[in-house]
Amino acid sequence: MSSPTIDFANAVAGVVPGTGIDPDRLHGDLAARFRDAHAAVTARRRAGEMGFFALPADRDLTVRTGAVAATVAPRFESLVVIGIGGSALGTAALRDALLPPAWNELDAASRGGRPRLHLMDNPDPDSVAALLGRLNPARTCFNVVSKSGSTAETMAHLLVAWTWVESSLGPGGPRERFVVTTSPGRGPLRKLAEDHGLLALDVPDAVGGRFSVLSPAALFPAAVTGIDTGAVLAGAAEAAARCSTPELLRNSAGVLATLLHVADTEMGCPVHVFMPYADRLRGLAYWIQQLWAESLGKAVDREGRPVESGPTPLPSFGAADQHSVLQLLMEGPRDKIVVFLGREVPERDVGIPERFAEEPALACLGGHTLFDLLDAERRATAEAMRREGRPNLTVMTERLDAHAVGSLLMLFQIAVVYAGELYGVNPLDQPGVELGKKLTFGLMGRDGYPRPEAPRSDSRWRV
Ligand code: PA5
Repeated sequence: MSSPTIDFANAVAGVVPGTGIDPDRLHGDLAARFRDAHAAVTARRRAGEMGFFALPADRDLTVRTGAVAATVAPRFESLVVIGIGGSALGTAALRDALLPPAWNELDAASRGGRPRLHLMDNPDPDSVAALLGRLNPARTCFNVVSKSGSTAETMAHLLVAWTWVESSLGPGGPRERFVVTTSPGRGPLRKLAEDHGLLALDVPDAVGGRFSVLSPAALFPAAVTGIDTGAVLAGAAEAAARCSTPELLRNSAGVLATLLHVADTEMGCPVHVFMPYADRLRGLAYWIQQLWAESLGKAVDREGRPVESGPTPLPSFGAADQHSVLQLLMEGPRDKIVVFLGREVPERDVGIPERFAEEPALACLGGHTLFDLLDAERRATAEAMRREGRPNLTVMTERLDAHAVGSLLMLFQIAVVYAGELYGVNPLDQPGVELGKKLTFGLMGRDGYPRPEAPRSDSRWRV
């Protein structure tokens, strides 16, 4: 069982030339500031506002999720998760990290008889038509995930999929093939489930979309595909326990939040680059991006005053992006701090054969493994950035197993709510996405919703 560690030497003054945090401050003003943030988070948690903390211990929810998954898994060859944003990114993070690579290309025996897993998030007709064209309606289960139960993209996909099943299998077809995951007791999706007798799972009221990865929103698809959800929750519970102390240097989520907040507000680094050196952490990087963006990108603080600063999260992927983005990170504007993510031990490795010894560029690689190379690139990039005065942190787990992934998910969720307090903003809301949603409904003809103003003829430019 491995828990994440954070190495922040490359963000410390005197280590990273020309910038960095005075380490004494981690015992002084930053420790005091974190104690206040910790107290505020604890108060909101006790007031029942931060339901994600309680998910690992919610036994009823876990048992129900496992029971529904057990009825679904053997009956279908495909599971399609219909959801978007926080109702899709957690599933993608768990899929990438914990299912064997190219899961959907494996045959049924190699998948242990469990379904393939597809995501329907973006309402792009090319992708949706192509996906449905590949699926067998009789052998496909749709899991419609929406906390509100009314998100336009998700509802549109529900209508398309429902009608697709019905037109092939008749009016009784959808009832056996749709499972909904939504708020308990309210919303259009809940009503649809009740009216049609669908299996339904709850996203608890106090759990927001981007904080729902440890709820049935992502754990149901994970359980159906055979991910060890118990180990994910155990890792999350352990991380929550470790990140519960108000002592900054003993709280890894507090350290992460504090360092990234200082990087933005004092070191001129508002761009937070999350850069895994593991293909299996791709989904996690996009999940972190949403968590950071929606939680911390706010126009006003908790007192309603305009906010002048705030981070911009950017996923990047090592080692491939060393050949695309690294030039910018090394020599572009000094407005970035990189958070490298990696693991100490790979689950599998590939040896590099010793061949063509006369060619030095090839000879030095032979006898090593691909993980040796990937890990050397991570360490070399962190060191190269340090030498150039580019601050960076490294979050490592020993292995990338279900326990460690659960720990990472909880670590970043706790870090973002601490960061919300440090910035003075509410990390739990997302008022900035509401207007666009309303205008979309207006354009789609929904009564009572505003329509975008017609473009002024003199402001319309085309080339
Ligand atoms: O984090 C959030 O709240 C959002 O990203 C939501 O997850 C997203 O808008 C989808 O909302 P819903 O789950 O209500 O369909």
